[in-house]
Amino acid sequence: MVSKGRVNDRTYRGASVIELIHTASLIHDDVVDDSHMRRGVLSVNAMWKNKIAVLVGDFLLSKGMLLSIDYDDFDLLKVISKAVREMSEGELLQIEKAQKLDIDEETYFEIIKKKTATLISACCTIGSLSVSLDKNIMQQMESFGYLIGIAFQIKDDLFDYSGKRLGKPTGIDIKEKKMTLPLIYTINNCKKSEKKWLITSIKKYNKDKKRVKEVIQFVIERGGLSHAEKKMYEYKNKALKQLEYFPNSPYKSSLEMMINYVVEREK
Ligand code: FPP
Ligand code: MG
Repeated sequence: MVSKGRVNDRTYRGASVIELIHTASLIHDDVVDDSHMRRGVLSVNAMWKNKIAVLVGDFLLSKGMLLSIDYDDFDLLKVISKAVREMSEGELLQIEKAQKLDIDEETYFEIIKKKTATLISACCTIGSLSVSLDKNIMQQMESFGYLIGIAFQIKDDLFDYSGKRLGKPTGIDIKEKKMTLPLIYTINNCKKSEKKWLITSIKKYNKDKKRVKEVIQFVIERGGLSHAEKKMYEYKNKALKQLEYFPNSPYKSSLEMMINYVVEREK
């Protein structure tokens, strides 16, 4: 969209780096989350244990970094290194909040911005940087990536309540004490006694399947899902608006289709 379809070797290398870092981050994330499923199949840690998964993730991460270094793509490397730092911070903040259970909406948005949206923003920034040195265009693309990334993670978090998440059972976030937008909203919009019941459920009964189901039902009844959907659509619309800056083209239409896919996808 930025260069009207013209790409170059830097664009391909940038895309490859992103793919390597993305895969590394998911392999590490499954260790962090002790999750045994990824995209419907066994995760690396489930197949070969944590030790191997940590090292394979490190290997892919260094391969990605070296791809930029070997070709002197230092501007791209700077973007990607910042993204890795932010993603790690997001994951750490999420762990801290899962221990203390004191997360509010603002912190939720900070977490998902860092752990997820940063990478999608880096994709857009790198794509733009590979074909144009225009700072303003780059910033437009950076913001676009953040907006779409936030919508993407809200959708991912909604799947945990709707049973449609790819290759993962419902309630896995609650099992991990991961409080996401539907639950955060419900906790902040119910009676004191109900809030106490919810917090106790997450703290002590997070592995009790029946209790987790009751929590999910409660969140649905109290409008937690509708609230999260509303927020997701707000970000979707902001992302669409962000594209207005660019003239119409088949490339822009593809990005619009991608935005719609992110929020409408069924898995
Ligand atoms: C998935 O989130 C995980 C992320 C969005 C980020 C993971 C980032 C790291 C482990 C730190 C950076 C590490 C490297 C090697 C770059 P989720 O658990 O909410 O979603 P899921 O359902 O896909 O597991
Ligand atoms: Mg995970």
